[in-house]
Amino acid sequence: MAIQKPRGTQDFLPEQIGNWNYIEARMRNICKSYGFNEIRTPIFEETSLFLRGIGETTDVVSKEMYSFPTGDKKEQTYTLRPENTASAVRAYLENKIYGKENITKWFYIGPMFRHDKPQAGRYRQFHQFGAELLGNPSPLADSEIICMILQLFKDFGLEDLQVELNSVGCPNCRPEYRKKLISFFESKKDKLCPDCLSRLYKNPLRILDCKEETCKELSIGAPAIHEHLCDECKDHFEQVKAYLTAAHVDFHVNPRLVRGLDYYTKTAFEVQYAPLGAQSAIAGGGRYDGLVEELGGPATPAIGFAMGMERVLLTLEKQNLLPETTIDPSVFIVALGERAQIEAFKVLQVIRGAYCSAEMDGQNKSMKSQLKYANKIHAKYVIILGDDELARQEAIIRYMETGEQETVPLTEVAMRVISMVKGC
Ligand code: HAM
Repeated sequence: MAIQKPRGTQDFLPEQIGNWNYIEARMRNICKSYGFNEIRTPIFEETSLFLRGIGETTDVVSKEMYSFPTGDKKEQTYTLRPENTASAVRAYLENKIYGKENITKWFYIGPMFRHDKPQAGRYRQFHQFGAELLGNPSPLADSEIICMILQLFKDFGLEDLQVELNSVGCPNCRPEYRKKLISFFESKKDKLCPDCLSRLYKNPLRILDCKEETCKELSIGAPAIHEHLCDECKDHFEQVKAYLTAAHVDFHVNPRLVRGLDYYTKTAFEVQYAPLGAQSAIAGGGRYDGLVEELGGPATPAIGFAMGMERVLLTLEKQNLLPETTIDPSVFIVALGERAQIEAFKVLQVIRGAYCSAEMDGQNKSMKSQLKYANKIHAKYVIILGDDELARQEAIIRYMETGEQETVPLTEVAMRVISMVKGC
């Protein structure tokens, strides 16, 4: 049996890379206008970063991590990053960025790894575009982040997206709310799904966003977080909503939106596209005011988001918004005979040297077969160079769209074709 790619991973072949380049270019562009600079952190980190950063009871940490021995120290393991926020904060601390600037705005694009059951829109290796804004406690920052995501989606032409918004409170108000939730679910614990049963005392908020029908029904009437927010969280949430309203953002307050990572405080949000089904979240994020401190740094407010790039592509595809991308060469050189091949190769190098895409075959096939190939790869211009042309120091340019041809001096052919490709 031939070796196949690991389950839950994908090969992206040249015809798909055009789409990836397209979305990445727009992502980089929007980061430029919102003042975010790119970072690149290692694809693996010490496992303890994710245990402390994301939380030991989360599904991501307890079930989905790819961990392996470091090979240096016994007992110590590394983990393929399941997300990039913890790594960004680690880099922020390790490079003492907090001492150099008051506000830090970073973005990243890259692969993440989660050992989950693969399905449409859910992969074991997937890619995220994300941004982190550290040092700004203002609700304005929360709104800015959401507006940036929506502007990107709007520029893509995407429609029918829902913005789900919630506040998950903070270490002042959440413990009391947790207690209330535990006592609400304790009386129903026999009916909870095994996952929720194990969450009951560790992470009861997660029961609220369980996808199992019975758990959904059991959580009807559960205490609502908004009634338990402290004044600071309540005020922050009101202001986020006011800023979003001022920016004409259509959002839906969803008290059940509990994100799957433990570091969130106050604002939590997701952007969903329902036709993607079970994996409808195309972006998610929120405030994580306690994470920098949790990882050993000074108290630093922060907010960020990440979007699943495969899900963005799926959504663009569903809405027919992916641009036609072509990887066709502009020029093909038909060379007939050994001497002509050498001359053709010189011309090829001059054309490529001007960053115009050009191809030749080099196998000395018949004129008919080389022209057929030029046609197949949609070359716009074909240069024909045979021994006769060579003897006259000429070459033929054929315009494939019209079939017209002209003869030009061999010394000028490269420049002529270059100027036509470049449109000058
Ligand atoms: P997350 O919600 O776990 O948040 O992931 C963000 C996005 O990544 C999801 O909305 C989804 O589009 C995509 N995603 C997650 N898992 C998969 C998967 N298995 N296959 C395909 N796509 C997936 C975070 O990762 C946080 N670090 C976001 C954040 C940044 N919060 C604050 N700053």
